[in-house]
Amino acid sequence: MKGNALIKNASQVVTCSGFKAKHGKEMSDLHIITDGAVLIEEGIIKAVGKTNEIIVRYSEDVINRFDGSSTSNNAPEIIDATGKTVLPGFVDSHTHFVFGGYREEEFSWRLRGDSYMEIMQRDGGIISTVNETRKATMRELMNAGKRRLDSMLSFGVTTAEGKSGYGLDRDTEIRQLEIMRNLDRDHPVDVVRTFLGAHAVPADYKGKEDEFIDYMINDVLPEVAQRNLAEFCDIFCEKNVFSTDQSRKLLTEARKKGLKLKIHADEISPQMGGAELAAELDAVSADHLLQASDKGIRDMAEAGVVATLLPITAFSLKEPYSRGRYMIDNNCAVALATDLNPGSCFSESIPLLFALATLYMDITTEEAITALTINGAAAIDRADTIGSIDVGKSGDIVVLEFPSYQYIPYHIGVSTVEKVIKKGNLVFGTEDDPFDSEHLL
Ligand code: NIG
Ligand code: FE
Repeated sequence: MKGNALIKNASQVVTCSGFKAKHGKEMSDLHIITDGAVLIEEGIIKAVGKTNEIIVRYSEDVINRFDGSSTSNNAPEIIDATGKTVLPGFVDSHTHFVFGGYREEEFSWRLRGDSYMEIMQRDGGIISTVNETRKATMRELMNAGKRRLDSMLSFGVTTAEGKSGYGLDRDTEIRQLEIMRNLDRDHPVDVVRTFLGAHAVPADYKGKEDEFIDYMINDVLPEVAQRNLAEFCDIFCEKNVFSTDQSRKLLTEARKKGLKLKIHADEISPQMGGAELAAELDAVSADHLLQASDKGIRDMAEAGVVATLLPITAFSLKEPYSRGRYMIDNNCAVALATDLNPGSCFSESIPLLFALATLYMDITTEEAITALTINGAAAIDRADTIGSIDVGKSGDIVVLEFPSYQYIPYHIGVSTVEKVIKKGNLVFGTEDDPFDSEHLL
């Protein structure tokens, strides 16, 4: 694929400019260029600015090199974004998108009043997905994963994090990571892999959680690290799952082996101290945080841990939302992600995520966009290469069908994404608006 594109005449290019996480007030500044253009060459952003300046500065160059005709192999894709908004591709920094089976029955049980943790305690929940994932073939898991990435891409996601955690044994954990490695290679959406071997306690280790952590440390982690199968290690730090001490032990060992850290922290039970632990261990992100304490939030802001909030999960579990407003006001760097998984949150919907963040968490539209772009990138340690429209970054771009970014939450629950460009190639949407054709008039 050639990876050359010129996107011009956009009513807004929302650059989200920056190369590191944005904290607190910085999250409000989207660095917008009106009547803007973006030039991408060989997958990398080469220029961004006012359309007339980009055209003047680059047209000769482009004409010379690309011959200005579509017959040239290297001809850039010319995208006229008149009346449209251009943004960096969204970064979904927390998902569990590789899994076997579904848990639609469990959703009905929850509607009748059973809680997520009650279902988990009686070996439903995560364990039921573990059973289905262990049974599934590599091909079945690959195909299901591919379909889910296709759907994410249609919502404007150009990079997604994905976790293992539905194996809880060496072979299946490794299989999940290998599937994500293959999908990363073959699918336009880039996939960043996280090892979540300590996601739940399997039946044969019930009451022997310390032994299970040792099994993960001694029998699984070394292969994951040695074969470079994951960049991050994560753990479900929760009452009746893994304690803060067990979490500290596994994560410390993972770091010694070169993995970066994430934590499912303070999701359901209060006073677990997950946010504090994330700060103590210098985790890249702490995720969920519905019950994070004031001190934990201050600690994260100071340590530079990205607070990754997952409001669709809170919505789906009917739990109170995490305190996004308070976190931003206390100078945290907040990211938003879907948490797509078969249990607590079977949704990859970016429109729903925007609706909940803005209408129910008091997060502004500008902050929410920052949370899904540059701060999402920071949550997977990629703020230097993706998450904004800056020269030198990957040419990952979303074109909205509307003239302003404000339409994103305003068009409630409906995707406003018309086109997605990944590394300079159009990978979702068509070049021209089919309903604009002369013959229809
Ligand atoms: O982030 N809380 C733990 N893990 C997932 C849910 C996984 C599942 O229910 O399958 C989460 O919500
Ligand atoms: Fe999760």
